[in-house]
Amino acid sequence: MVHLRIKGGNKISGEVLISGAKNSSMPILISSILTKEEVILHNVPYVSDVTNLISLLINLQTRVSLISPSRIGKSVSLTTARLANNVDFSTEASKIRTSVLLMGPSLARNGYFRLFKPGGCNIGERKIDLHVMGMKLLGAEVNETENYIEFTTHGKPLKGNIITFPLVSVGATQNVIMAATLAQGETIIQNAAIEPEIEDLILFLNKMGAKISKISEREIKIIGVKELFGTEYTIMPDRIEALTYVMIAVATGGNELILKNVSLKYFGDVINTLKTIGVELDDVTLPQYHFGGVLLKPTKELLSTSVETAPFPGFATDLQPLFMVLMLRANGQSEIVENIFENRFQHIPFLKKMGADIDYIGSKAIIRQTKNLIGSEVEGTDLRACAALAMAGLMAEGETIVRNIESLDRGYYNFVKNIINCGGVLERIS
Ligand code: EPZ
Repeated sequence: MVHLRIKGGNKISGEVLISGAKNSSMPILISSILTKEEVILHNVPYVSDVTNLISLLINLQTRVSLISPSRIGKSVSLTTARLANNVDFSTEASKIRTSVLLMGPSLARNGYFRLFKPGGCNIGERKIDLHVMGMKLLGAEVNETENYIEFTTHGKPLKGNIITFPLVSVGATQNVIMAATLAQGETIIQNAAIEPEIEDLILFLNKMGAKISKISEREIKIIGVKELFGTEYTIMPDRIEALTYVMIAVATGGNELILKNVSLKYFGDVINTLKTIGVELDDVTLPQYHFGGVLLKPTKELLSTSVETAPFPGFATDLQPLFMVLMLRANGQSEIVENIFENRFQHIPFLKKMGADIDYIGSKAIIRQTKNLIGSEVEGTDLRACAALAMAGLMAEGETIVRNIESLDRGYYNFVKNIINCGGVLERIS
């Protein structure tokens, strides 16, 4: 078990290099198995979800090598001359939920996929019924036992179809897009997720020779092709990582923060939410970085507000725990409604233990300004909750221990080093 020991009270400001987007790199790394040719990816984030996924791909007979010196982030070469079928996911799948995203590409490439029911996680049951619905509509036969699900097309190619999702799902949208690239005929996805990470996946697949286009705000058309080809691609920056550091800087009274290798165009509407509470961000030209940079200007006064999490372009659920901690600094009373995951308030009892004035019932939380948090021993329950509790520890008086911060490493590269470089006092202890 790894923990964080934090001594709170310092202002966090300075410079942070932002990694490639975890939630874009996963489907893009997996999509490389749709071709026999070499795929080269730049700005791959070396977070544990990605390194675990890479070891999963190696089990599937993908040849993976690190290219050095890498242009930005990590540069990785992947070649899948032959895709194995019968990898025992049971160990790996429990590590990362993203093994679910192997479903579409494996069916498109091999006409077969077997998935051990992926480990749920703390923020909710993480159902995969929409993924299964999509594969069935593309012609896969599905049979389910109590510990795994098996998909097969009996050697035939998948067939294009119209797939209307009853609710917006990032992963199910990604799986259907990837599967449909090699299906016979045309696929239309309705009520699709449209996160920037989905746009990034579409740009990458079209560079491989896929024919994917958006025909309306939440409608995506995929015309199946016979084969896809190798390509080279740079993964978009991680907007959630970037905004995590923005909120930590503002919450600790940091006067200036420069985020390197990221641009505001990836942030979406949350920029307006930040503006309404008094947080100003500007693009800055940093020619030495592929994506430029973003500057956080000093925040005069932090105002309260109300947000509801929603699929992009709405307020990202991944930012909810962090934004909640930030609102402890805001004047007055704020309100947050979590609409995406049924169990994503587990950080609240620990924040209350630190003295946070927060009440919550069901999916709604009321946050009141809390001028001083008291350092305590708390526990991380998921990736973003860990970051939120670390943020609270940096704001608090005295020492905070955040237990179980392994999940922090799933989505943040060099988090401790970055915060220390910006004036924080914290260390990993095991
Ligand atoms: C992706 O998860 C992200 N993970 C999550 O980020 C993110 O919070 C989420 O999208 C929402 O933006 C990756 O990209 C690896 P969903 P995903 O399918 O695809 C329900 C992080 O912190 N649902 O959009 O699993 C589901 O239960 C992680 O980086 C079904 O009911 O999310 C949830 O309530 C956390 N049936 C809602 O849809 C399904 O078949 C949205 O889930 C699939 C999902």
